Parts: sequence; structure tokens; C-alpha cells
Amino acid sequence: MIPALIGAFPPVQTLRDLPALRTAIDALKRDGKPLALVPTMGALHDGHMALVEEARRGGRHVVVSIFVNPKQFGEHEDLDAYPRREAKDAQMLTAAGVDILWAPGVEVMYPAGFATNISVSGVSEGLDGAARPGHFDGVATVVTKLFNQVRPNVAIFGEKDYQQLAVIRRMVADLDLPIEIIGLETQRAEDGLALSSRNAYLSEAERHEAVALPRALGEAKRQMEKGASVEAAIAKAIATLTHHGFDPIDYVTLCDAATLAPMSVLDRPARLLGAAKLGTTRLIDNIAVDPA
Ligand code: PAF
Repeated sequence: MIPALIGAFPPVQTLRDLPALRTAIDALKRDGKPLALVPTMGALHDGHMALVEEARRGGRHVVVSIFVNPKQFGEHEDLDAYPRREAKDAQMLTAAGVDILWAPGVEVMYPAGFATNISVSGVSEGLDGAARPGHFDGVATVVTKLFNQVRPNVAIFGEKDYQQLAVIRRMVADLDLPIEIIGLETQRAEDGLALSSRNAYLSEAERHEAVALPRALGEAKRQMEKGASVEAAIAKAIATLTHHGFDPIDYVTLCDAATLAPMSVLDRPARLLGAAKLGTTRLIDNIAVDPA
């Protein structure tokens, strides 16, 4: 047989129940190589595949989880509409040489009687925490469960969800979880739009306007780094987003890069974060802003 035709890797092992996962993880760990987890909600794109590539670095074993977590969606959010295409995802993970696809059902993740909530205060309270009440409790709860289920040495998250990454770092430090958290820079389309599963909701016209979000944040960053006032740069970014049809604009805020405390003067490493709706699609993005 010609190797190219049979594929470089065996089909990814898809597991849906905990006893099978535990046995498979024990078997993977036997050779002493580190194990990396890439938690996802599926509908994989190049941004996720960059996380997988990072996970594989240094010969780590890789587990990718796909679980559309109901606990992190608000009542009127897109849980039902969220794109689900596991067969295609599994093909992509096979091509990338992933060892295990962990794809539990809701009844496995949250069996009857489930009553525990993990809540990280401070860093999860503003920004998306304010715009999407309960969202980060849902994220922290499911990520803790995924960590306990998979028992990875390393877990990889994208910086696109910058506040989520900060919440998880806080939680891992506070709970003494023996897991290294790696944040990977946001992967972008050629025009600069951050890759996201939710971009699939955008109409052609909306996709064209969507790039205004990274551009407005980038322009505000340049202004602030040149010495413009934080307030004026943010006001200009908001005006640009409004001009391109974003409505409502949940926030455009400069925050401390580590604690996410809001900043009105650029006097330490910061992050400018924005979230706004274009039609029915909510987009988020962020960018580093550094004092001179
Ligand atoms: O970033 C995501 O896709 C999700 O929030 C995560 C981390 C997989 C938890 O459900």
C-alpha cells in the first residue's frame, strides 16, 4: 500500500464514557511522555489546530475534548444553534495525529444530581462576566471536570478568549492543580479577523464588516502607545464599530494584562478587549497594549 493513501496516523480514538477514558489515559501515560489536553467545543478550525500543534510539541500525547457545555451558555444564547460537526472534527484530529478525542454526552458530564459549581471571583467579574452572567462559572466547572477526567500535564487555550484564559490561570493557581497552562496567540484570517467557530454565523456582508473589530482595537492600541488618552482612543474605537454596524457594543475596555482590572492610564502592560454584536453574532477580540 502507498503510505500517503492509507494516512500517516491511525483514526483518532473517540471515547464517550469515563471508564474507557481512564483505561486509555492510563495506557497512554505508561511510556512516561507528558500528556496535553486541548479543551474545545468542536466545529474545529485552524485556530484549534494551532492549539493541537502546540500540544504535540516535544512529543506529548494529545487528548482533544469536544463538549458543547450547556452550563456556559445563557438562557437566550446560541446553545442549540452552536455548530456541531463531530465527524469532520474527528477527521481533522486524525490528520493531526491526536491520540484521543474525548466526546462525552451531557449525561456523562453532568449526571442526574450534579450540584457543584466552581466560581472564580475577581478576574471573572467584569467584561464577559458582566455581559454573560454565569458564563465563567460554567467554564471553570467544566474545565475542572475535564482536568480531573483527562489528568493532563499541560493544557492549551487560545488568547482569543483572553478573560477565559485569565480565569483558568487563576483557578489552577488557587486550587494547586498540577497542570501547566499554555496560552497561544490568537490565530487570524488573512484580513485580521480572529478565527472563531461563531464566524460561521456571519452573512457574507457581515463577514466583510467584522474585520472592523480587530482594526478598531489595533488603531486604539497604536493611538494609546503613541500617548493618546485611553478614553479618547476607546471612544474612537466605539465610533468605528458603530459605523460598521456593531450593535450593541458590550465593551471596549483597557485592562491590566494579568488581573484584568480596568485601567484609565497606560502605565503598565495592558490588554484592550472588545465584544460586540454584528447582526445576531457576538464577536470578541483583544490585543496587547504596552506602555512606552
Ligand atoms: O473555549 C472553549 O471552547 C470553551 O470555553 C472550553 C474551554 C472548551 C470550555 O467549555
